[in-house]
Amino acid sequence: MPHDPITTGTIAELNTFDPAIGSLLALEAERQSSTIELIASENHVSAPVMHAMGTCLTNKYAEGYPGARYYGGCVHHDGIERIAIERACKLFGCKFANVQPHSGATANQALFFALLNPGDVFASLVLADGGHLTHGLKVNMSGKWFQAVHYPLVYDASKPNFEHIDYDAVERVCLEAKQQHGDKFKLIMCGYSAYPRVIDFARFRAIADKCNVLLHADIAHIAGLVASGVHPSPFPHCHVVTTTTHKTLRGPRGGLFLTNDEEIAKKYDRALFPGIQGGPLMHVIAAKAVAFGEALQPSFRTYCEQVVRNARALATGLQSKGFRISSNGTDNHLMLVDLRGKSTQLIGADAEKWLESAGIICNKNGVPQDPRPPKQTSGIRLGTPATTTRGFKEAEMQHVASFIDRVLTAGLAGEAALAAETAKVREEVRTLCARFPLPA
Ligand SMILES: Cc1ncc(COP(=O)(O)O)c(C=O)c1O
Repeated sequence: MPHDPITTGTIAELNTFDPAIGSLLALEAERQSSTIELIASENHVSAPVMHAMGTCLTNKYAEGYPGARYYGGCVHHDGIERIAIERACKLFGCKFANVQPHSGATANQALFFALLNPGDVFASLVLADGGHLTHGLKVNMSGKWFQAVHYPLVYDASKPNFEHIDYDAVERVCLEAKQQHGDKFKLIMCGYSAYPRVIDFARFRAIADKCNVLLHADIAHIAGLVASGVHPSPFPHCHVVTTTTHKTLRGPRGGLFLTNDEEIAKKYDRALFPGIQGGPLMHVIAAKAVAFGEALQPSFRTYCEQVVRNARALATGLQSKGFRISSNGTDNHLMLVDLRGKSTQLIGADAEKWLESAGIICNKNGVPQDPRPPKQTSGIRLGTPATTTRGFKEAEMQHVASFIDRVLTAGLAGEAALAAETAKVREEVRTLCARFPLPA
């Protein structure tokens, strides 16, 4: 059963009125509480954040912005959105925020719509090296309607900064883009989906200034670490910042835009609404406000510091068992495990499936320069935001490293060994999770 009474009550209600959904919700609540969540982009929100989403605010249309809505009856919605904006600005140390993006992808889409024209050029890290699909993948609007040039990581394994961003190459790629495309080159993007190292925003800004282009940070993954001061802030270096609110920031599923530039803020507001979205999700905006309030508490910094300590403990635990960690470690909440360090036979897709059977949830992920296709991959991505929320510390991360090693080693030994070991580990995972209940 879930630990919080409102979810328990909701399940009971649905079991009466809509048992098809009620029973699946109950199963999902049980899955979340009895498995170890290592997906780097997921977290467990607090009960106040969760419940703010399930309120009467969902009934209301509030197109527009506080004080300038297209529907009557928005007075309380104005109050809620103003608080969310004020807290977002305080949290990230900037002057303007738009709390309406439905998601991180939408926040980025509106950024393109606000600041670029179709055919314009921007620089980013390619998805295969840790970027995101909204950073110029060919099948995404960002790559179809705009031209992405990609800067590299350091690919020379003999260098101490192997698999870190190659800042000299970033400068080279961007200056070439300026020379080739002139004023059509508009923006440099930094901030990633699978990059475990600190981002040098000041260095990026120096490059942006040399090219006379805007600097954008997509801090979707590290937002909580940034908000709590555990990762350096993109401000004052970046002109524009987008993020999700549901990863390390531990809020509801959603997006956020931030800037210090009033003109850009106005352009962004218009690009998001009416440019891209219709009515804002006011129940989610209320939950964002609650989550921002939580992140402003000193305890959130303690949480984020532990997230990073836990990631380091997991990375070193796995290294001690023969796994290679991309870039040789982590500075933030996530790591890329190169399974080939353990065995060239190990494939990310198998590892994901085997670990799930043992109650350990993660995702297959390419490692830089991965020879395997994205549906197989040579790696898995692991993150510690969710396990840290439920109270795991370094000692528990050592257990997790050992669980992972036992399952993957058994998988290499064949089906029978795998079945026997996953059954054992599954029970140990259940016992460990029972000691660390989800937020109530
Ligand atoms: C760097 C980055 N930007 C944007 C997004 C998109 O966020 P969403 O899934 O909320 O659209 C993600 C999500 O994983 C991300 O990692």
